[in-house]
Amino acid sequence: MSEKETILEIKHLKKNYDDLNVLKDVSLDIKTGEVVVIVGPSGCGKSTLLKCINGLENIQGGDISLKGEIISNQKKNMHLVRQKIGMVFQSYDLFPHMTILHNILLGPLKAQDREKKEVIKEAEKLLKRIGLFDKKDAYPRQLSGGQKQRVAIVRALCMHPEIMLFDEVTAALDPEMVREVLDVMLELAKEGSTMVIVTHEMQFARAIADRVVFLDEGEIVEESNSETFFTNPKTERARKFLNVFEFDTVKGVKDR
Ligand SMILES: Nc1ncnc2c1ncn2[C@@H]1O[C@H](COP(=O)(O)OP(=O)(O)O)[C@@H](O)[C@H]1O
Ligand SMILES: [Mg+2]
Repeated sequence: MSEKETILEIKHLKKNYDDLNVLKDVSLDIKTGEVVVIVGPSGCGKSTLLKCINGLENIQGGDISLKGEIISNQKKNMHLVRQKIGMVFQSYDLFPHMTILHNILLGPLKAQDREKKEVIKEAEKLLKRIGLFDKKDAYPRQLSGGQKQRVAIVRALCMHPEIMLFDEVTAALDPEMVREVLDVMLELAKEGSTMVIVTHEMQFARAIADRVVFLDEGEIVEESNSETFFTNPKTERARKFLNVFEFDTVKGVKDR
C-alpha cells in the first residue's frame, strides 16, 4: 500500500476537567482514507477525544492539526474548521421543527453559503442512497431511530467534510436498526472516506477498521491493525477488554 498523507495529527494531547486528567498524553495520526476505530471501556475518554478533535473542548496540552494547520484552542475560524470535520453523535440531533430535507440543507446553505439548487440536488441524491428519499418532507418524529441516524450521517456528509467522526452512533438504537446504520458507514469506508469511529460493536469494528486504537484511562494502550488487535492483542488490558465481549457473545448464544 502506498504511503498516504496524514490528514489529522494529534500530538501529546492533554485534556483535564478540573482535577480530572481525562486524556493524558495522546498522540495519533490519521491518514487520508483511513478508518480508525477507537475502542475502550466506558469513561476512558473516547468521547472527549472526539470532542477535542472537533473543537468542542479546549485542551490543556499538546496540539491537534488538520492538514498541517493547528486547530486546537483556536477561537477564530473554528466554525470553518468544524465544517471540515463532520460529527455524528449517539443522539441524532436533528431539528424537530424542520423536515428531513431542511435539516440537511441547513448547514450547506447557512454556514457554507452554497447555491440552493445545487445543495437540494445533492441532498436528494444522498437521501436516495440511504433509501429515504420518500421521507424528505417528513419530520424527524415520523422516522425510526435508525432512519434518523442515517439522516444525521447524510446531513454531515452534505457539508463535504474532510474527515468524519462517529461517536457510538448505534448505541441508542433498537438492535434491528443497528445494521442499517452500520451498513451506511461500511459503504462510506469502501468509498474511501476518512473516518474515526468510536463503537462497542466489535464485529463491525473488526470489519471496518484499518487500525484499532485501544484507549484505557486516557492513554493509548495499544494500536494495531484490525486483524492483529482482535486475534492477537499485545497487552493484557486489551485482552481483558475483548474478553468481556467474547463472554457476551457466548452468553447471547446460550440464551437463545
Ligand atoms: N464535561 C465534563 N465535565 C467533567 N467531566 C467530564 C465531562 N465530560 C466527560 N467527563 C469525564 O471524563 C471522563 C471521560 O469521559 P468520556 O470521554 O465521555 O468517556 P467515554 O466516551 O470513553 O465513555 C469520564 O470520567 C467522564 O465522567
Ligand atoms: Mg462516550
